[in-house]
Amino acid sequence: DQTGMAYSVGTTLDRFIKSKQSDFPFASGELSQLLRDIALAAKIVNRETNRAGLANIGGAFGQTNVQGEEQQKLDVIANIRFIRALSKGGEVCAIVSEEEDAVIDLHNTSGKYVVAIDPLDGSSNIDVNISIGTIFSIYRRITPAGSPIQMEDVMQPGSKQVAAGYVLYGSSTMLVYTTGFGVNGFTYESSLGEFFLSHPNIQAPKDGNIYSINEGSELEWNKGVQDYIRLCKEKGYSARYIGSLVADFHRNLLKGGIYIYPPTQKNPNGKLRLLYEANALALLAEQAGAIATDGKQNILSIQPESLHQRTPLIIGSEKMVQTAMEYFAEEK
Ligand code: AHG
Ligand code: MN
Ligand code: MN
Ligand code: MN
Repeated sequence: DQTGMAYSVGTTLDRFIKSKQSDFPFASGELSQLLRDIALAAKIVNRETNRAGLANIGGAFGQTNVQGEEQQKLDVIANIRFIRALSKGGEVCAIVSEEEDAVIDLHNTSGKYVVAIDPLDGSSNIDVNISIGTIFSIYRRITPAGSPIQMEDVMQPGSKQVAAGYVLYGSSTMLVYTTGFGVNGFTYESSLGEFFLSHPNIQAPKDGNIYSINEGSELEWNKGVQDYIRLCKEKGYSARYIGSLVADFHRNLLKGGIYIYPPTQKNPNGKLRLLYEANALALLAEQAGAIATDGKQNILSIQPESLHQRTPLIIGSEKMVQTAMEYFAEEK
């Protein structure tokens, strides 16, 4: 059973991954190991996150990343933790990270997988004890194992993801992922150090009544976006915006809703990054029956041109995204 329905709530992540592995008798188990490596790093970052207020790891790190954002200490810590877990795990040949200017070549030419990662999503919420996350995309390398990695291994469209997911460090910590056969969510039981299946086979509601957008930028939106948000208000929808993409996406995925990061005058391509923010959530959305677009095309079909490229993102319940796109089409 590929949907996850046959696995009961309470199955450990490890057992779940193992049972999926036996669905693919010819697969070598490397992707399974990679998912375990990510889960391990997630537990470590969860621990750091939980004690951030006590351990003097709050606040700014004192450097900016390639996007010109001020790095927080936890951005840097999460980046180190994930890179370490992925390189020790041995399944990965290259990593793209929000916090690294260039591709990290692990010089592990036998590793079959490339990972793109936003180690810590929602940096502005770290110091105020609000939900933050991690986002990851996994690709199979294109060039043959044994040869040095090439840019084409890294610059693949989202449709080529073999797995994707996020960790939400929230009121509870969750790992939600897909390998292209539905979406499953696991909740972390910290006293046992285990993730347990809590949300099998997540299905996004087809419609919803929550809209999520940073309304402080309203004057910078084009008319299509302004008109659509006015429609949301006329319909009496609720506004919900945490400012951590993972948390906003997770809520809308479960409850039904739409998340929009539109082009603004300041950022004509929006703010979010294609490789390690939009693509993973787009695959999860699609696998759960929701939609992700940049306003013109499916996020998953965009051919990346640079590592840190940005994209507008409209993601969420099918009906809401379709209506939003009609409004955006008649913009100017
Ligand atoms: P990150 O913390 O990884 O740099 O991502 C920040 C992103 C995303 O989490 C969030 O949805 C968005 O920035 C919020 O941006 P605004 O403050 O412009 O609304
Ligand atoms: Mn950042
Ligand atoms: Mn982010
Ligand atoms: Mn980040």
